Amino acid sequence: MEIYEIDELRLYSGQPKRWDHQKVIAMSNQKVRSKTEKELQEIILQEKAKGTPDIEIGQKYGVTFRYIERLITKSKGINVSALKVSKKIKTLYPKDFKEEQTTVWSFKQRGNWATHSGEYRGNWSPYIPRNVLLKYSKPGELVLDYFCGAGTTAVECKLLGRKCTAFDINDKAIELAKRNASFSVESQQLILVEGGSRFKVYEPELSVGDARNLSFIPDNSIDLICSHPPYANIIHYTDSKESDLSFFDIDEFLEEMSKVAKESFRVLKPGRQCAILIGDTRRKKHVVPLGFGLINTYLDAGFKLRELVIKRQHNCKTTGFWYASSIKYNFLLLAHEYLPIFEKPEAPLLSSVKEGETAYGLLAPILGKPPLKRKLDELETTTVWVLPEKDFEKRLNKNVIDRYSGRDGYSTIDFSSYSENEASFSKNGEKEKGLLFIRSPFLSNNPSQSTNELYLQKVKETVGQNLTKITEGGFIVIQTQDVRIDGYIEPLAKKVIDLVKFDALWLKEIVVVTQEKQNKGVETSNDCLLINHQYLLVYEKTKGR
Ligand SMILES: C[S@@+](CC[C@H](N)C(=O)[O-])C[C@H]1O[C@@H](n2cnc3c(N)ncnc32)[C@H](O)[C@@H]1O
Repeated sequence: MEIYEIDELRLYSGQPKRWDHQKVIAMSNQKVRSKTEKELQEIILQEKAKGTPDIEIGQKYGVTFRYIERLITKSKGINVSALKVSKKIKTLYPKDFKEEQTTVWSFKQRGNWATHSGEYRGNWSPYIPRNVLLKYSKPGELVLDYFCGAGTTAVECKLLGRKCTAFDINDKAIELAKRNASFSVESQQLILVEGGSRFKVYEPELSVGDARNLSFIPDNSIDLICSHPPYANIIHYTDSKESDLSFFDIDEFLEEMSKVAKESFRVLKPGRQCAILIGDTRRKKHVVPLGFGLINTYLDAGFKLRELVIKRQHNCKTTGFWYASSIKYNFLLLAHEYLPIFEKPEAPLLSSVKEGETAYGLLAPILGKPPLKRKLDELETTTVWVLPEKDFEKRLNKNVIDRYSGRDGYSTIDFSSYSENEASFSKNGEKEKGLLFIRSPFLSNNPSQSTNELYLQKVKETVGQNLTKITEGGFIVIQTQDVRIDGYIEPLAKKVIDLVKFDALWLKEIVVVTQEKQNKGVETSNDCLLINHQYLLVYEKTKGR
């Protein structure tokens, strides 16, 4: 899903300019005002049918983007950006495709091979299901997508010789998916893929259905689940509320998704994977960690976390108006989504966890040295910071300090291996600071499970002990990262967010930090992706909400 966003003002991909609601409404002229609502709607639908861009329609008729979107969804029963889309196939396969090897997936183009297009609002880039299908299934195996939309997964299954069964609550979406999946692949029904193997083409089975009720699918019968739900109520996919999860607000949405997660666990074969794309949202200038909330519902259903992939978004504006606003209002544009790859364990999990040695013994924070002098320029403006390998730490520190320390200065605390007598922090009588930066360098050494548990407790303690030393409106930034234990991901950023809860602290941003150029020539072992991202969890100290 590609979204630009500033707080309540939300901009979708493909928009050439800033969409300013107030300005657009103010532009409503006399001619438009004299029309009845119905006449106006008919004119707008005619403009859409002619292919007039939304921004132009907005300016001409004084309506917002949301208005146009609702009108289309109501009259056509489907949320599409254009009413006329050419489905002329130029090529069936992406050019120079290479499978992703690390935990940060980044596609400069959304992908327009076969019948793929950005027509269906909030659809996913075909590169995502393509990577998932190639990594976690074989030709001839059965793939389930219970949020089918316009059929991106189904089309990829057809192109890659996988069987596919896909549902959507909206019959109009299924109609569109059927149209998108009805193309011929080579007359002989056998095609070649990279690596030279031949496989059969299967027509996907597409029908209307509710992802919360898969009772018609037998237990342990699906080889892979690859799906993309609504992100709570960010975009509405139909104009009626019934059963459409895109009308549920965050808490209710997660409750409904827990039914989907339980059904997913039941129908998936043991040892197989379930990939779900999900993004965060914002309320009152603060991030709402919808992605981590959804991960919890699948973990609660019994899944393990095989990978936690970050999907970058590329169409975020980082210069001019956006840059200035990002600094002035101190916010970052949401530029990432999460692709957790869950796995249904082969056998029920044993209650006693086998442990490796605790490499770091007891763990305690060490008061660090302030790393850099402040200088306000070249700040990152989105939630994904791609920093050069050389100067990585320096650039990371600079961005955190410049953006979050304010006039009251900052202090840092590092979690490293230590011996008891080294632990000397939280001195009495310290002056209040604008920023406390808690870093966790020991995590890059793949610590054991028990060390991680201790780490999480220590982070919470440290935050609690230092809260009074932060000025109101100041920040606590926690640098952390996911680690892999016995082949599964320990999502430590999610766990910190689950654990660090204080009335006076409000999660403001989840930032993903990664290194430039690491994607190239990376060889990974044991079918695991190389973890090449870390997180900055930015908390703001408030009076309480
Ligand atoms: C993010 S879109 C999926 C887009 C799809 N990946 C694509 O590329 O076209 C989410 C879809 O979930 C559907 N949906 C909403 N509630 C549903 C439910 N209860 N069961 C099945 N589908 C549902 C919506 O109609 C929408 O098409």
